[in-house]
Amino acid sequence: MRTRKIAAVAAGLTLAMSLAACGGGGAGDTGTDTGTDAGSEDTGSDEGGDGGEGGEGGLIGVAMPTQTSERWIADGEAVKAGLEEAGYDVDLQFAGDDIPVQQQQIDQMITKGAEALIIAAIDGTAISGQLEAAASAGIPVISYDRLIRDSENVDFYVTFDNFQVGVQQATSLLVGLGLMDQEGNETDAAGPFNIELFAGSLDDNNAFFFFDGAMSVLQPYIDEGVLVVKSGQTDIEQVATLRWQQETAQKRMEDLLTSTYNDGTKVQGVLSPYDGLSRGIITALQNAGYGPGIDAGMPIVTGQDAEIASVKLIADGVQFSTIFKDTRKLADQAVVAAEAYLSGGEPEANDTKTYDNGVKVVPSYLLESDIVYADNITELLVDSGYWSESEVESGVAE
Ligand code: BGC
Repeated sequence: MRTRKIAAVAAGLTLAMSLAACGGGGAGDTGTDTGTDAGSEDTGSDEGGDGGEGGEGGLIGVAMPTQTSERWIADGEAVKAGLEEAGYDVDLQFAGDDIPVQQQQIDQMITKGAEALIIAAIDGTAISGQLEAAASAGIPVISYDRLIRDSENVDFYVTFDNFQVGVQQATSLLVGLGLMDQEGNETDAAGPFNIELFAGSLDDNNAFFFFDGAMSVLQPYIDEGVLVVKSGQTDIEQVATLRWQQETAQKRMEDLLTSTYNDGTKVQGVLSPYDGLSRGIITALQNAGYGPGIDAGMPIVTGQDAEIASVKLIADGVQFSTIFKDTRKLADQAVVAAEAYLSGGEPEANDTKTYDNGVKVVPSYLLESDIVYADNITELLVDSGYWSESEVESGVAE
């Protein structure tokens, strides 16, 4: 994490190097390197207004969903570092995937006088009340990574091209099955291949974009019988995973194996939208005698986020792929957007069509993502400083 933090800062904000370098260490275990505040737990680490380096520019509230997935910890830290470097105080909170906790945290940010809010919602529809209060107080709201839905009080959205993430996940599944090469050319492999589909949490707008993107690639193959979803479960409602929980995905994979693959047939590919789910799926498969690695019959399993444990599994030939979304760049965009509002302007959008939140189309800034395979881990993740070589080797963030 330390490496990532320093890299994050280096990406856009040179001066902060010295800050990061002296900002406390030894947090490699959970990645909760707050630098000044030890009390970080899932349900709220009050890191705000601690009189750190910021102060000149006022207080900005940063609400993150959970610390159970390392990406959100990295996101939170990078946004905080960037804002502090720009002269703001930061109230960074993690909500332990608990909706009322997140509501309360945002309420408190408003009470404390936050001048802007950056929010990655747990449930994209559950914070309308908070947003109304923010709007009445003239506080701009930036939706971070996940679209806040059903509210007009969302000013801007910073995220990745989420449909394209799904396209990339499905593409890597085809590559793993040998139906396509890494350049995107179809091969003459014939199939049929048995696959199963997983999706994310239905209260997260992104889950639909990932799934729709993936199905835009897979559906023609399913229609032609080249890919067979043997369970018959192809609707997002059937394949969703509440709160993106690893155990839930593991349990569903176990159930699929006993219900659908108890006749000697094998599952050969699994569309998984997030590395945590992928690890649960892989565990279920290994427990049922698949693998341990792809060479030994582990199905092609996709992922997302380039979590270090999964990057190691990819290097070891167990998980096939993941999607790298450089959260350092996303954090930078959130900082840029907040600064634009607080200096009386508006952030620049590069998409004003895609993200209709049910009430309005939210102007967005979209970033691009990359497919990670075993053979480009170094190029994408190590050379960019996202993970170090030794982290990839150990599978643990340092
Ligand atoms: C994010 C993904 C992440 C998932 C689970 C989504 O909203 O876009 O990057 O894997 O949440 O945390």
